Amino acid sequence: MTIARVASFAFAGIEAQPVEVQVQIAAGLPAFLVVGLPDKAVGESRERVRAALAGLGLSLPPKRVLVNLAPADITKEGSHFDLPIALAVLAAMDVLPREELAGYAALGELALDGGINPVAGVLPAALGASMRDLGLICPAQQGGEAAWAGRIEVLAAPDLLALMNHFRGTQVLSPPEPPSPDTGPWRGPCLSEVKGQESAKRALEVAAAGGHNLLMIGPPGAGKSMLAARLPGLLPDLTPGEALEVSLVHSIAGLLRDGRLVTRPPFREPHHSASMPALIGGGSRARPGEISLSHNGVLFLDEWPEFPRPALEALRQPMETGRATISRANHHVTYPARFQCIAAMNPCRCGYLGDAPRECGRAPRCGEEYQQRLSGPLLDRMDLAIEVQPVPPAELSRAPAGEATPVVAARIRAARERQRARYGEDGPRCNAVAEGSALQKTLQADAAAQALAEQAAERLRLSARGFTRTLRVARTIADLAGSGPVLRTHVAEALAFRHRGGARVTPA
Ligand SMILES: Nc1ncnc2c1ncn2[C@@H]1O[C@H](COP(=O)(O)OP(=O)(O)OP(=O)(O)O)[C@@H](O)[C@H]1O
Ligand SMILES: [Mg+2]
Repeated sequence: MTIARVASFAFAGIEAQPVEVQVQIAAGLPAFLVVGLPDKAVGESRERVRAALAGLGLSLPPKRVLVNLAPADITKEGSHFDLPIALAVLAAMDVLPREELAGYAALGELALDGGINPVAGVLPAALGASMRDLGLICPAQQGGEAAWAGRIEVLAAPDLLALMNHFRGTQVLSPPEPPSPDTGPWRGPCLSEVKGQESAKRALEVAAAGGHNLLMIGPPGAGKSMLAARLPGLLPDLTPGEALEVSLVHSIAGLLRDGRLVTRPPFREPHHSASMPALIGGGSRARPGEISLSHNGVLFLDEWPEFPRPALEALRQPMETGRATISRANHHVTYPARFQCIAAMNPCRCGYLGDAPRECGRAPRCGEEYQQRLSGPLLDRMDLAIEVQPVPPAELSRAPAGEATPVVAARIRAARERQRARYGEDGPRCNAVAEGSALQKTLQADAAAQALAEQAAERLRLSARGFTRTLRVARTIADLAGSGPVLRTHVAEALAFRHRGGARVTPA
C-alpha cells in the first residue's frame, strides 16, 4: 500500500512554499480525513473533492482515506488545495499514473461538477514550480498567468475530466501562451482638463518624477481629487522587474485579470471606511492590503483625516520600510509595500477655514481639531504639502487649456531615466527611496545649495527625516531641470513644498 503524492504550495507573503499532498488509502472504517494544519477552506476541500469525483462517476473506496499536507507545521490556507488533493486521491485509487503526476505541482479550486475554478497565487506557484523543475497544473483561465514563469510545462485544465483524458493520452491539453501585455497610450483623464492650478500641477509633476509623497489641503471642490486622478497618467511604465513584483502581489490577492501582468503603476484609492486588514493586510486569511496592492505605485487617501487613527498610524512603519508585516497566530507574514502616498484633505470639518464669509462659527478651533487627527510623525513623512485654492468660476471658463498628460509624462520619464542612470539597476528605483548619503554627495557639489539647506533645516527645525526628504525633493527638481548638481534654486523650491515641521497646516 503505497502513498500517492502531488506537489502544491502554501503562500508566505509573495513566496510559494512547497507543500506535499500525500494520500494513503488503507483498510479500516470508511473515512475521508485531512490533516496537516488545514484552515476552514482546506477542511471543506473534502466535500468538494468527494462531489467532484461523484461528478466523474467515481466514488471514494469504502476505506480509510487519509490526506496529509506536509510539512505539518505551516498553516495551509485557501481553497487551492482542492485540485492537488483530488489528483492525489485519484492517483491513490490508480485512476491517474503516479509517476507522471510526480513531475507536476498543482493548484485549483474544484466545483461540484469537477470544473476547476481560478484561485489566487498562480504566478508565484508557477515560479516556485519552475525553480523546482516541475510543471504546473492550474485552472484553464489562468494558464496565461502561469506561462509567464518561462520555461515551465503548464497544464491549464477546465475540469478534472480533461486532466484525466490528458494523462490517458486521449485528449492532450495544448500549452497556454502568456497574453501580450496591455501597453498603449494613457486613456484616463487628462491633465489639460484642470484649469489654472499651476502650482498644484507643478507639485504633482515633482511628486510623480521622484515618487514623493504629496499632501493636498484645500476647500471642497477645489480640484484635489481631480488632480490626484490624473497622477497615474503621469507615471512611467513599470520596469520588467517592478512589473513582476507588483504582479506577484496582485496574483496572491487574486486580482490578476486575464493572466496579464501589471505593467502600469497601480493606483489604489481605499475609502476612509476601509478596515485595518483591508488597508494594511491580514484578516482571517493572510492577504495583502491596499498598501501592498499599491506597491511600486500610488496609494491615494482621499479625505485623509477621516481614516481611523489606528489605520493611519499603521501606515507609518511601511512608509519608512517599504514592507507590510502582519502578525498571524504563530508567525509573521511580510508583503512588499513601497508605495507613493498621495493624501487629500479639507482644512477643517466644514471645509472653509480661512474663507471668512463661509467658514463656520468655530473657526479656527475647528481646523486645529481636525488637523490634529493627523500625528506629527505622519505629516513629517509627506515630502510635499500644498494648498489647493479653488479657481474662481470666471477663470474656469476663460483659462486656456494647460499642458496635456503626455507632454508632462515625457518630462517625468526623462527625469526618471536620469535617476535610473545615477542609481544603476540594483540601486533605489527613484529619488524618494534613495539613501541620504548618496543625495548629500550630489548636493555638496554646490556650496550655495548646501548652505541654504543647512540654514533652512536649522530655521524650520526640520527633523533628520524632514531634512533628508527635502534633499530628495530637491534632487528630483534638479533631475526635472536636467541639472547634474543640485542648485540653490532647487533646494529653495523643495523647501517651499515642505510642510512646516511641528506647526500645523496654516489656513489660507
Ligand atoms: N481647476 C479646475 N479645472 C476644471 N474643473 C475643476 C477645477 N477645480 C474643480 N473643478 C471641477 O470641480 C469638481 C470637483 O473637484 P474635486 O472633486 O477634485 O474637488 P475636491 O477638492 O476633491 O473636493 P472635496 O474636498 O469636496 O473632496 C471637479 O470634478 C471638476 O469638475
Ligand atoms: Mg475630493
